Amino acid sequence: MLIVGICGSPKRKNSSTRFLLQKALEAASDVLSDGETKSATTLLLDISDFEIHQCTGCDACVRKKPCPESAEDDMPKIEEKLKQADAIIIAAPSYFTSVPGVLKDFMDRSRTMKMLDHELQDKVFGAITYAGLRYGGQEPVIELLHRFALAHGMIVAGGVGSPVKDGPFGSGAMQKDEGGWRSAKDDTLAISASQGLGKRIAELVKRLN
Ligand SMILES: Cc1cc2nc3c(=O)[nH]c(=O)nc-3n(C[C@H](O)[C@H](O)[C@H](O)COP(=O)(O)O)c2cc1C
Repeated sequence: MLIVGICGSPKRKNSSTRFLLQKALEAASDVLSDGETKSATTLLLDISDFEIHQCTGCDACVRKKPCPESAEDDMPKIEEKLKQADAIIIAAPSYFTSVPGVLKDFMDRSRTMKMLDHELQDKVFGAITYAGLRYGGQEPVIELLHRFALAHGMIVAGGVGSPVKDGPFGSGAMQKDEGGWRSAKDDTLAISASQGLGKRIAELVKRLN
């Protein structure tokens, strides 16, 4: 069983989104591995480590032809891992209440996997986000990622922790209520929601297997 996390932050260091994704994957790993073969059950991919060309809209994929861009960039490497996965978690910071361009390029290029007969169908999917502002577009980002997953025929899942305390997806903000800023490392609600999401996704993967 394999859960692949994609960090959609272009940031090379100290990404809050990446930190939350790690928390989700650790929680998932605990469920899947029973404490033994942890490294084998999860994989974190940083989107900024890959060269991803923009989709040119050529529609080769619609005609079930190989994407010409894939001959020249790293998209096949990501596709290979995603096809092996039982579940996919995408974590994205809010950029103008949407996802960063590099992640959107990946999403557009993933159309090939959809056109080649829903290669990501039935994979369990979860989303995580982080924003600068308390109300910085977290929910539009999550909704966008969920719609992406639905378009691929994935099974969108949310955490089910305390019905009165825990949200269904990983989400938080740098902005503190009392003023000032923090990283996700000090955002306890964002951490517990991300862990809850990872746990739930792993439980679903187990059940479906
Ligand atoms: C280009 C750009 C656009 C951003 N747009 C927003 C925004 O619309 N709302 C917001 O709250 N924060 C915005 N931010 C702040 C990021 O969401 C915030 O720094 C987040 O923690 C980055 O996550 P990371 O550390 O994982 O990269 C923006 C940052 C950048 C660089």
